Amino acid sequence: MFYKPPHLAPSTVWGLCILAAAVLTLCYLYACTRRPHEPVQPLPFSHATHTAADGSAMDCRACHAAAHHAAGAGLPAAATCLDCHRHILPADPRLLPLHAAANPDHPAYTADPLRWARKAPLPPYIHFHHGQHTAAGHSCDECHADPDSQLPHTMSSCLDCHRRQNVTTNCDRCHK
Ligand code: HEC
Ligand code: HEC
Ligand code: HEC
Ligand code: HEC
Ligand code: HEC
Repeated sequence: MFYKPPHLAPSTVWGLCILAAAVLTLCYLYACTRRPHEPVQPLPFSHATHTAADGSAMDCRACHAAAHHAAGAGLPAAATCLDCHRHILPADPRLLPLHAAANPDHPAYTADPLRWARKAPLPPYIHFHHGQHTAAGHSCDECHADPDSQLPHTMSSCLDCHRRQNVTTNCDRCHK
């Protein structure tokens, strides 16, 4: 008359619980620790290492000089990296793609360039000029607080500052 649940040995019940917990943990790790759209980079470059006072303490302009005058900030040539990495961590496997790209003295050399993926590009219909903004006194970290996990730029992040600074909010100044 009534539904009688099948008898399960306590060890089986524990086994099922552990299995369920393992599946949930894996789902969590997959969904929550991998940021959406995180691009695959040719090697694990870290801004934190290179700009920290106890690292190589580099200024942004050493690698992105164009941000001070041009529309695009640009990305550094592999030769810039090799200036240091011929001597710093010369045998580190993480730097093999760099030697492959730019170091003819290295056995791994293929002349295959480093193809960096952009994390937060603007849509192609937007007009943005770095030089205009740096000349107006804005520093890199106002718009790039953490370049290692750069968030996408939004229209409201542009407009908030344009309103504060009494700069244009005409649609067609930003929209091509
Ligand atoms: C040693 C050279 C180097 C230095 C110094 C450096 N960068 Fe970069 N930067 C790179 C490389 C390589 C990339 C491409 C790989 C990446 O995105 O991490 C990059 C990418 C970026 C990006 C692109 C993010 C996107 O949308 O993909 C921003 C923004 C940026 N850097 C800002 C800065 C700022 C701000 C500083 C100073 C605090 C700085 N960088 C210092 C080498 C450098
Ligand atoms: C001014 C010197 C200098 C330049 C230029 C430079 N690096 Fe480095 N790099 C360092 C130093 C210092 C370290 C930390 C070394 C250590 O851990 O002992 C480092 C560490 C690294 C590491 C190991 C991972 C980490 O973050 O500790 C990678 C990968 C790397 N650099 C890639 C690059 C790439 C790619 C470029 C060019 C875009 C570059 N570096 C340009 C000095 C430099
Ligand atoms: C007013 C905001 C703002 C300031 C200030 C700013 N940037 Fe940017 N940056 C942007 C935007 C928006 C993009 C995306 C541009 C695109 O995709 O066309 C960008 C893109 C970049 C990129 C990716 C490569 C490229 O050429 O687009 C780098 C590198 C970068 N900025 C570095 C810097 C550095 C270094 C400074 C300081 C000298 C700086 N930026 C100052 C807003 C800013
Ligand atoms: C931190 C403040 C700030 C942010 C953020 C900012 N801007 Fe600006 N923007 C300015 C200032 C200040 C000027 C005026 C520069 C001048 O007077 O030459 C300007 C000027 C401009 C101009 C030229 C306007 C004209 O009259 O021709 C364009 C286009 C522009 N910004 C687009 C953008 C876009 C797109 C974004 C977002 C991705 C953005 N800006 C984010 C401060 C900002
Ligand atoms: C200061 C620069 C700036 C101005 C001024 C501006 N926009 Fe934008 N707008 C942007 C940026 C940057 C994006 C892209 C944001 C993104 O990719 O999420 C955008 C995206 C949009 C989108 C697409 C949104 C989406 O979700 O795809 C629309 C629609 C839009 N803007 C309408 C307007 C209208 C209408 C005006 C005038 C009232 C205007 N914008 C003025 C910078 C601007």
